[in-house]
Amino acid sequence: MSGDKVRLQKAMSDAGIASRRKSEQMIADGEVSVNGKIVREMGVKVDNHDKIEVNGVPLRSEKKRYILMYKPRGVISAVKDDKDRKVITDFLKEDVPERVYPIGRLDYDTSGLILLTNDGEFANQLMHPRYHVDKTYVAKIEGQLTTEEIKQLEGGIKFKDYTSAPAKVRVLSKDTKKNSSLVRLTIHEGHNHQVKNMFEHVKHPVEKLSRERYDFLTLDGLVSGKYRNLTRQEVALLKERK
Ligand code: URA
Repeated sequence: MSGDKVRLQKAMSDAGIASRRKSEQMIADGEVSVNGKIVREMGVKVDNHDKIEVNGVPLRSEKKRYILMYKPRGVISAVKDDKDRKVITDFLKEDVPERVYPIGRLDYDTSGLILLTNDGEFANQLMHPRYHVDKTYVAKIEGQLTTEEIKQLEGGIKFKDYTSAPAKVRVLSKDTKKNSSLVRLTIHEGHNHQVKNMFEHVKHPVEKLSRERYDFLTLDGLVSGKYRNLTRQEVALLKERK
């Protein structure tokens, strides 16, 4: 917890006690005390000078974790799945006991670079639309892009609820026999299925998708299903981005 005042349920969820909603229930049930007094009402704010106890056990902040993972295809980027499919946190070993969760999402059938953290502020900052972090994807698409279609992708495509911001497009290879191409696309937005929708719009459906880069971070040194901690410098650089 920082020196800033936050809601009691947020302090609890930041410390890895439970989700915010579950924490609210615990407060209502009288399980939580602040400075020796049971608090049952919502809206109480605390900072790191307050002594918080849950069922008599002092709350200690979890160590902040920042992880870069190479997400395999066929995995949900969430901490649990109602259909019991494999989720991204299944790949974490005992060296990550903290309750980390993915920052943003990659589709079930998309592989590549994804960040996980238990630092809510960091996650919110990176996911905020104002924060323009470049994300680079390599897509195997059906057919070959014309110059006009590349211009369309680069210029921005009008969808029902948004227009995509200008993108960088580079055709890496073409396979005329298989009627497919490999295309690198860089965007800074993160609308649902955005890359697939952009290619679909120009009538070249995506057959395979991978995220190769997130800002200055790459998958170098990792294989599918593996992860590493971000270095202090990497975290500091990402925090500096506004
Ligand atoms: N765009 C997509 O269409 N899918 C992803 O997984 C990521 C970006």
